[in-house]
Amino acid sequence: MSGVSVSKGPEGATRSADDLVVLSEVNKHFGALHVLQDVDLTITRGEVVVVIGPSGSGKSTLCRTINRLESIDSGTITIDGKPLPAEGKELARLRSDVGMVFQSFNLFAHKTVLENVMLGQIKVRKTEKKAAEAKARALLDRVGVGTQADKYPAQLSGGQQQRVAIARALAMDPKVMLFDEPTSALDPEMINEVLEVMQQLARDGMTMVVVTHEMGFARSAANRVVFMADGRIVEQASPEEFFSNPRSDRAKDFLSKILHH
Ligand SMILES: Nc1ncnc2c1ncn2[C@@H]1O[C@H](COP(=O)(O)OP(=O)(O)OP(=O)(O)O)[C@@H](O)[C@H]1O
Ligand SMILES: [Mg+2]
Repeated sequence: MSGVSVSKGPEGATRSADDLVVLSEVNKHFGALHVLQDVDLTITRGEVVVVIGPSGSGKSTLCRTINRLESIDSGTITIDGKPLPAEGKELARLRSDVGMVFQSFNLFAHKTVLENVMLGQIKVRKTEKKAAEAKARALLDRVGVGTQADKYPAQLSGGQQQRVAIARALAMDPKVMLFDEPTSALDPEMINEVLEVMQQLARDGMTMVVVTHEMGFARSAANRVVFMADGRIVEQASPEEFFSNPRSDRAKDFLSKILHH
């Protein structure tokens, strides 16, 4: 890309202004279990990275370290050039730069859909109530649930709730959105309505990290597929390259299982 300044990072590695999320030699243990092993991953602005791999390979942990829901034992993680702070207000602000959507929708059950999408804007971003409401309504429209604004989460279908969760994350104007198996808990007929919202986000240029088993989404929306096994990034390639020509035995084995069942 032209006009991109390239500078040397603190470790002397080449760093580009287009790099948004940079993990460098990240290690994480749960007790004796080494769940992230020397993970190096750079996500550039506007890139859509799909993370796949067997159960227990560390995909969720990877996502959770990026917004510091999990601490790391060694290595560095920077968001837009800034290292992740350990705690406090700075962490809250940085965390809100990273939108996260989980398998379980995690909406506040005792708040309406509209309130769910307003809350973070008011508390963290200090947005005026009126402006927060206008933005929440616009985002709910954008994900196709504008008419549900005054209902409570339990009154919505799973697919609708997940779209509210996406709107809530977007309300914080995140620099990057992380999705951890956002459609895994949904009935089949609701999966597409959520994937379509994600496809649109990708087309609009949002930087996204998506853990998913939806290989159709990976093929059509991802710029890059990252394959993890045993806490390591085993290989990464464009979806065309990865699906037609996986190089490692682990990836071949994984693909044969998920594509032929
Ligand atoms: N809080 C925790 N305490 C202890 N071990 C954990 C914790 N969270 C995850 N693990 C372990 O770390 C490893 C990686 O888990 P992680 O949830 O990141 O895998 P995953 O790739 O997301 O798997 P799945 O596809 O099943 O969601 C697993 O062995 C898991 O049991
Ligand atoms: Mg997981």
